Amino acid sequence: MTDISTHILDQRMRSPVYNASGVMCRETTELEAVRHSDAGALVSKSCTLEARDGNPEPRYAATPFGSINSMGLPNHGYRYYLDYAAHYDYTDKPLFISISGLSLADNLHMLDAFQRLKRPLLPEVNLSCPNVPGKPQLGYSFDDMATALTAIHAAMDIPFGVKLPPYFDISHFEMAAEIFNRFERLKFLTCINSIGNGLVVDTDSETVLIKPKNGLGGIGGDYVLPTALANVNTFYRLCPDKQIIGCGGVGAGEQVFQHILCGASAVQVGTRLWEEGAGLFTRLNQELVAIMQRKGYQCLADFRGKLRTL
Ligand code: SIN
Repeated sequence: MTDISTHILDQRMRSPVYNASGVMCRETTELEAVRHSDAGALVSKSCTLEARDGNPEPRYAATPFGSINSMGLPNHGYRYYLDYAAHYDYTDKPLFISISGLSLADNLHMLDAFQRLKRPLLPEVNLSCPNVPGKPQLGYSFDDMATALTAIHAAMDIPFGVKLPPYFDISHFEMAAEIFNRFERLKFLTCINSIGNGLVVDTDSETVLIKPKNGLGGIGGDYVLPTALANVNTFYRLCPDKQIIGCGGVGAGEQVFQHILCGASAVQVGTRLWEEGAGLFTRLNQELVAIMQRKGYQCLADFRGKLRTL
């Protein structure tokens, strides 16, 4: 019998795969669709203090190798997700709540409200949204990130995680890891958000594909797999007391396997879920099981983090 269950903290997931924040998670109907699917968990849309319509449309486009988006955090405001979390059945599957305040004060306010629920929800603080004009990605500003995490850590009684932007330079990995390792209740790192501010061009029309920011947007899908795996594996090595949640470039069970081989405890799916819908999770689970059976692995611990170097 092949066992693909995993744990984030002490919470069991029947499968390691679930949605990335931003896909199938803005409406409660979407969250419920993920809950009723073969996903192992679900995460809500990154919320802000007040509801937001997000950036002007078109703001998402599928491309041959993935997607570009500049959604701009459209969400119903944190109270909507607070209500969902208050009524959620935690015996079913873990619920992650993504928080993306426009200021540290907003983040502290929202996190306080969620932890006051006294439910086993898992907060994922988004330090990496590339799409709000005038709001830089906190994960790229190490001093500001350290200040924010110091305040958040002091305010949090419960464990939490962060959603990170992709890093590209070894010195940046080391600086970021040194910051994360200061905080004991920071328990998981989600790697990676989209590669920010890419540009996709349509040759025929000689235009950009999306309206916000002169066409710049976060890149997801096949393009980002090597960057995602590099971030998963490097933080797995540099932050041995944290769990890593992989995100980026997953379209088949093979990429789920690769994320786990690189050290991921669970794996989120964004672009492909957007394109394929929640039936995707059944396929990913089946494909992961098939790879494990071919290799003689019985559970994820048999290969998690066991990537070999040459
Ligand atoms: C968005 O709403 O713009 C996407 C959120 C993110 O990438 O963090």
